[in-house]
Amino acid sequence: MNKGLFFRSICDDDRQAVVDLWSHCGLIEPEDDPAEAVRVALDSENADILLAFQPDAIAPELAMVGTVQVGHDGSHGWIHHIAVDPNHQRRGIGLRLAREAESWLRHRRISRLSVLVKTTSAEIVLFFARLGYLIAPRAVMQKFI
Ligand SMILES: CC(C)(COP(=O)(O)OP(=O)(O)OC[C@H]1O[C@@H](n2cnc3c(N)ncnc32)[C@H](O)[C@@H]1OP(=O)(O)O)[C@@H](O)C(=O)NCCC(=O)NCCS
Repeated sequence: MNKGLFFRSICDDDRQAVVDLWSHCGLIEPEDDPAEAVRVALDSENADILLAFQPDAIAPELAMVGTVQVGHDGSHGWIHHIAVDPNHQRRGIGLRLAREAESWLRHRRISRLSVLVKTTSAEIVLFFARLGYLIAPRAVMQKFI
């Protein structure tokens, strides 16, 4: 289904395409600063954005079809902004992206990871459940400073 899928880390030239995909996938909230999230991933050794590409049906170049942002604080890893272009969803690309993020963390000896999923997103909960994630009995508390 996803023949020819190829993954690589984000580079400078990908900034706009990544933000556009997140926007297209409904991942940007009014309070978010996606350009800043991209900058952190580009500048930090403890964070990355992994991109999935596929040969395009008409254009000669590869088309970006998905992203996952991954990072850690030394002991705990996080996945954010996992997104697959709506035209390419339900073909296993999301699973492959999540596994790429997991191996990025494993490679850095991080074995515990979490993802924040909106409680209203039942289908996203099902997606992560399929990958073996369990709902943790925690409350997320936030403050903007
Ligand atoms: C979440 C997302 C990345 C999944 O990408 P995807 O490539 O479509 O996922 P996959 O094809 O790898 O799905 C794997 C499995 O997850 C489950 N799943 C995925 N999407 C689902 C949905 N909408 N409803 C129910 N189960 C779903 C299914 O078990 C699926 O396997 P199946 O297709 O054989 O039934 C994609 O839906 C997306 O970009 N959503 C918008 C952005 C978003 O909300 N991201 C999450 C932020 S926390």
